[in-house]
Amino acid sequence: MQSRYFTLHAHPEGTPARELFELETAELPALAEGEVRVRNTWLSVDPYMRGRMTGVTTYIEPFTLGAPLEGAAIGEVIESRAEAFPEGTKIRHMGGWRDIAQLPADRCERLPAFDVPEQAYLGVLGMPGMTAWAGLNRIAEMKEGDNVLVSGAAGAVGSLAVQLAKARGGTVVGIAGSQDKLDWLESRGIKAVSYKGRDAAQLTAALNEACPEGFDVYYENVGGVCLEAALNTLRVGARIAVCGLIAGYNEATPSPGPSNLAMVLIRRARMEGFIVFDHWAHYPTFLEEVGPQVAAGELDYEETVVEGLEQTPDAFLKLFEGANRGKMLVQL
Ligand SMILES: NC(=O)c1ccc[n+]([C@@H]2O[C@H](COP(=O)([O-])OP(=O)(O)OC[C@H]3O[C@@H](n4cnc5c(N)ncnc54)[C@H](OP(=O)(O)O)[C@@H]3O)[C@@H](O)[C@H]2O)c1
Repeated sequence: MQSRYFTLHAHPEGTPARELFELETAELPALAEGEVRVRNTWLSVDPYMRGRMTGVTTYIEPFTLGAPLEGAAIGEVIESRAEAFPEGTKIRHMGGWRDIAQLPADRCERLPAFDVPEQAYLGVLGMPGMTAWAGLNRIAEMKEGDNVLVSGAAGAVGSLAVQLAKARGGTVVGIAGSQDKLDWLESRGIKAVSYKGRDAAQLTAALNEACPEGFDVYYENVGGVCLEAALNTLRVGARIAVCGLIAGYNEATPSPGPSNLAMVLIRRARMEGFIVFDHWAHYPTFLEEVGPQVAAGELDYEETVVEGLEQTPDAFLKLFEGANRGKMLVQL
């Protein structure tokens, strides 16, 4: 059997060109003892993959040029030499960016059993959802009634972060980049502010208008102008969970940091970065709390679905254009 998969054939500088991604085909070797063969049904594309394209080790190894790219995926076992995953089992694994994956069973997980579509385990009940929950609870230590500001507020992580924050009272403000995203935020009772076309002073003014008392928590997905404006609106003792800084991921030369970092000092704020995988031991707690709410329709989740393996790089690149509302997914 053959597998079709994407490779990267050069390290991008700035925004990756579509031509850097190549669709290749290879004959799969016979299945070894302890391995499964999987037909993928959903692929995840995520902003962190941009960091893996640079050739530099960060908190994770870089992608190897010419080798199949990796990413979270959901699929069905079509052939098995592993007792725990018989044919027909739905699993989540990291053999994405391809149609057929072949991998050891110890790198596969069965899907949890909530009454939700399977792709929810790549989004609201998967890594992005867990990231929202861990950042708010374990890093920002959000308390009942806190005023919370979230950037990237209508994306995979942000859209759950705003709803989890809203459920615990206080004013919740979401920053996003397009009218449909602002409308979605408003529909969930979140005050929505656009960052587009605004400098830090203008965004600060808009945030002050949305929440004159200031914020106890800032959930950071973006950086740049959003971070600078957010620092101006902190309350004393505020906590900033640094989840992502997507505004800088495609910069060939890094931009200088915020000119007003002194606000961390003035407001006695704490700023802490985190990587969700360090908190994965708490995934069952997250699922127990959030899974039933998603299954009951109490928490909304949006998906932007792109069809076909061939479109995977395009789906990935669209993340940097803000083309997705909620989780960006590829359906095979
Ligand atoms: N720390 C962790 O463990 C962890 C785990 C998962 C994700 N993350 C980070 O969390 C953030 C959100 O990830 P996600 O998966 O939920 O992605 P996402 O928000 O679903 O998609 C990316 C969004 O970022 C916004 N964006 C793109 N380029 C931008 C720019 N130059 N300036 C401002 N906004 C820009 C766009 O929304 P707009 O239309 O609103 O601009 C876009 O839709 C990312 O920074 C990601 O790296 C961190």
